[in-house]
Amino acid sequence: MSGAKLKIALLYDVWNEDPIAAAKEEEVSVRKPRKKVKKVKKEKTDREEIFEALQKLGHEPSYFELDGRPQSLHSLSRCDADLIFNLTESFDGDDTKEMNVVAYIDLLGLRYTGAGPHAIILAQDKAIAKKIFAFHGIKTPFFATAYRGRIEHAHDISFPLIVKPSWEDGSIGIDAGSVVTNIKEMMERVEYIQDEFDSPALIEEYIEGREIYAGILGNYERAQVLPMVELDLSRLPEGTPKIASYDVKFEKNTEVYKLTKSAIAENLDEVTTKRLSDTALAAYRALKLRDYGRIDMRLAPNGDVYVIEANPNPWLASRQEFAMAAKAFGLSYTEMIGAIIDLAMSRYLNASLASTAAMR
Ligand SMILES: Nc1ncnc2c1ncn2[C@@H]1O[C@H](COP(=O)(O)OP(=O)(O)O)[C@@H](O)[C@H]1O
Ligand SMILES: [Mg+2]
Repeated sequence: MSGAKLKIALLYDVWNEDPIAAAKEEEVSVRKPRKKVKKVKKEKTDREEIFEALQKLGHEPSYFELDGRPQSLHSLSRCDADLIFNLTESFDGDDTKEMNVVAYIDLLGLRYTGAGPHAIILAQDKAIAKKIFAFHGIKTPFFATAYRGRIEHAHDISFPLIVKPSWEDGSIGIDAGSVVTNIKEMMERVEYIQDEFDSPALIEEYIEGREIYAGILGNYERAQVLPMVELDLSRLPEGTPKIASYDVKFEKNTEVYKLTKSAIAENLDEVTTKRLSDTALAAYRALKLRDYGRIDMRLAPNGDVYVIEANPNPWLASRQEFAMAAKAFGLSYTEMIGAIIDLAMSRYLNASLASTAAMR
């Protein structure tokens, strides 16, 4: 399979919250007089990096934009790519529709990289994911959920707690106020999550400890855990909870962003590394992730490993944790993209071989 030139469509989603405002902005920028501006080197986006990697691999990449209108779904049905590199995370800005996009691609009979609808729904609903983890004996923080006056207790929980949206991703709704130490703070936060995100609130025991991410590449019995990456939160100012809040992850101009940094985890002994790897792999399999994924964990001071969440199709930008881990494993960025392509293609090949065998 490696070596075969493939037509690969890089599928990504865009949306306009306010199309009129966006159109106006465009108009203004067209009319603006040309001014001398300091040249700022723009960072490449993940899709530009992947596009380049695909070219280097000898494939024929193209971009395919899902813009939230039904027309873009119609055009997708006419896509003649050999494989879709799926970078979508929502449809029309609604991230609960991420699973519908892949389900639609399945119906079209197209091949695509990464997780199927099954894994996306299991991972996205964190309360369901946690119940599945518990079934498999994978440690995850004790929790309850609250929505519009209904409280479901999975366990008896005790403070400190972290309250987060049960459905969101990318640290949306997670800030310094997320960690609560008394009933009043907890109830206020539950209300905030419901009002702001129209989502049930996940109320979880707060696990003090190191923040460790495990990238996984592969399928079935051959899934490979990559070297652990740690997000060092130790330099966050006194009084700020040591969590990967929205600002820590994305807001480059904030102090907390500048004070935190991911790197290959150091000082993990063999036993702990094995415990982290085994836990990550079990979580990856339990939620049926495919091709590549990232499992976020907390390593408590007593050595216990807790799964915080599983991320199907994690962010593949070269400076992000997944690529960092692949590099430490010995894969260049291009090789990492090549591996994802090969994994996806062999899944489809295996499926067609199995159905041919069944016909005999
Ligand atoms: N139970 C917990 N204990 C300690 N920290 C947590 C816990 N849950 C979440 N966090 C912190 O909040 C961050 C974001 O939470 P997560 O559930 O991964 O949300 P998202 O899906 O938005 O990434 C985690 O990376 C971690 O730093
Ligand atoms: Mg996370």
